[in-house]
Order: sequence, then structure tokens, then C-alpha cells
Amino acid sequence: MKVCIVGASGKLGRYMVRHALERGYEVVGVCRAKSVAKLDEYRDRITIVRGMTDDREVIRSAVAGCDAVLTVLVPWGVHNYSSGTASAVLDFSRPDARLVFSCGWHITRDGQDVYPRGFGLQVRAMTLIARALRFADVDDQVEACRRIFASNRRWTVVRGSDLEEGESQGLPVWREHVGDPLLASNRTRRIDFALFLVEAMTNDELIGQAPAIVGRLTPSAVAAGAQETGAQATGAAR
Ligand SMILES: NC(=O)c1ccc[n+]([C@@H]2O[C@H](COP(=O)([O-])OP(=O)(O)OC[C@H]3O[C@@H](n4cnc5c(N)ncnc54)[C@H](OP(=O)(O)O)[C@@H]3O)[C@@H](O)[C@H]2O)c1
Repeated sequence: MKVCIVGASGKLGRYMVRHALERGYEVVGVCRAKSVAKLDEYRDRITIVRGMTDDREVIRSAVAGCDAVLTVLVPWGVHNYSSGTASAVLDFSRPDARLVFSCGWHITRDGQDVYPRGFGLQVRAMTLIARALRFADVDDQVEACRRIFASNRRWTVVRGSDLEEGESQGLPVWREHVGDPLLASNRTRRIDFALFLVEAMTNDELIGQAPAIVGRLTPSAVAAGAQETGAQATGAAR
């Protein structure tokens, strides 16, 4: 399987490169020219395409011939970076390619998520401050996801909880909506977020889904008994 990882040099991206190589996949990584050195340990095993991820020509050449595209959706700056990246991936990837995107719990597909108290205000405040500083535009990540949800492609949008570093705990568990008690711990190891994204490429049950994930050994997941069966880590965990 040939996989393109858009945003390969970031923390999440490098974990995804590692998981993909461990599975024997051929990897093409897109990253900014200034970040190529961050992929040095994989230099001889992957193809690196340099450029901004919202550069349509960069994405066009990177996704050519790929069976799947893993995209780290990030809302940097105030010039539609996230939606530009998503549109390029949707427009240029093979029609049958599996498309998997990362984002956070703040994205909602159907408005049925029930957020922890204060969560909405916190996101709104961060959105306004980041935009005022011209640092990031969270609303553009929302727009990116709206385009993905509206597309007829074979997509999955994986919604990460708060992240932490640490050893892998295995594949995170998920629910369709934030607010489910299983997700209450709101914590996932970054390495496992990457694992879920990579595994999603070969899990057709996740096509057209926006799973909200949480670490399988977090207290809320353990309380729900979700860590005990592999099935609940994938399709059955709704
Ligand atoms: N951080 C969290 O707590 C959290 C929580 C839930 C979900 N998420 C989701 O996880 C994903 C990101 O994960 P992460 O926090 O671990 O970050 P990350 O993997 O470090 O990814 C950041 C990406 O953004 C790129 N980037 C950084 N600054 C940039 C700039 N000014 N212009 C263009 N690109 C730039 C990085 O590329 P370079 O290598 O070139 O710098 C890298 O590819 C996002 O989809 C986010 O919504 C994060």
C-alpha cells in the first residue's frame, strides 16, 4: 500500500510515518522545506515532498498513485491553510483513495456532541485570540471539515482529545459523539492518536465517520470496559 502523509514532520506526523513503515507501507511525506531535517531518521525509507500543505501543486504530486492519504489538519495563519490543504487532498487524491484527517473534539459533524462545561467558551476564546494575533484560524479548520463531510470521498475525520506524550497504550477507543461517558477522561497518547489514524486507513467501518477518541487505558475507558475487547476499539465502539 502506498500512503501519503501530509504534515509528516510534525509530532503526530512522525508517529504516523513510524506506524506506516512498521506495517510495510510505502510512504510519501509532505513537509515544509525548513522541516525536512526532522525526518532524517526516515530519510532512506520514505519519499519526501517539500512544500506547504496548502500548495495545490505540492499535494497533486505527493498524492499521485497513493492508495491512502493521512492529513494532519492544522489551522496555522489566517490564509485558509486548513481548508486549502483539505481541498487539495479532496481534489487530487485518487477517487478510490482512503482519506483520513486529524482534528480535535471541537469539530462536530452533526451538532450532536455534548461538550464539557466551558469547552465551547474556551475554544471560542482561543479562536478569537489566535486570529487577532494572526497565529491561527480555528474556524478555517471547521471549514476544512465541512468540505470533507460534504464530499463523496472515502473519508474519516478522527477527532483527538487532549494529547500527551508517553509509551503506547494501544489503539484508542472511540464514540460517535463527544459527551459519551467513555470519553470523559479527555486524554490520548499522541503516539496512539497516530496509530488510530493509520489503522483507520484499512478499517472500512470508519468511512464517513468522525470518531472522537480517547486512550484505551484512561479511567473513563477502563470504567466503560472498553479496553477489554478489540472489537470495541474499532467498529463496535459507538
Ligand atoms: N495538540 C493537541 O493537544 C491536539 C488535541 C486534539 C487534536 N489535535 C489535532 O492534532 C493535529 C496536530 O497534532 P500536534 O499537536 O501533534 O501537532 P504536530 O503533529 O506537531 O503538527 C503540526 C503540523 O503543523 C505544521 N506547522 C507548524 N507550524 C506551521 C506553520 N506556521 N505553517 C504551516 N505549518 C506549520 C508542522 O510542520 P513542521 O514540521 O514543518 O513544523 C506539522 O506538520 C491537528 O489536526 C490538531 O487539530 C491536537
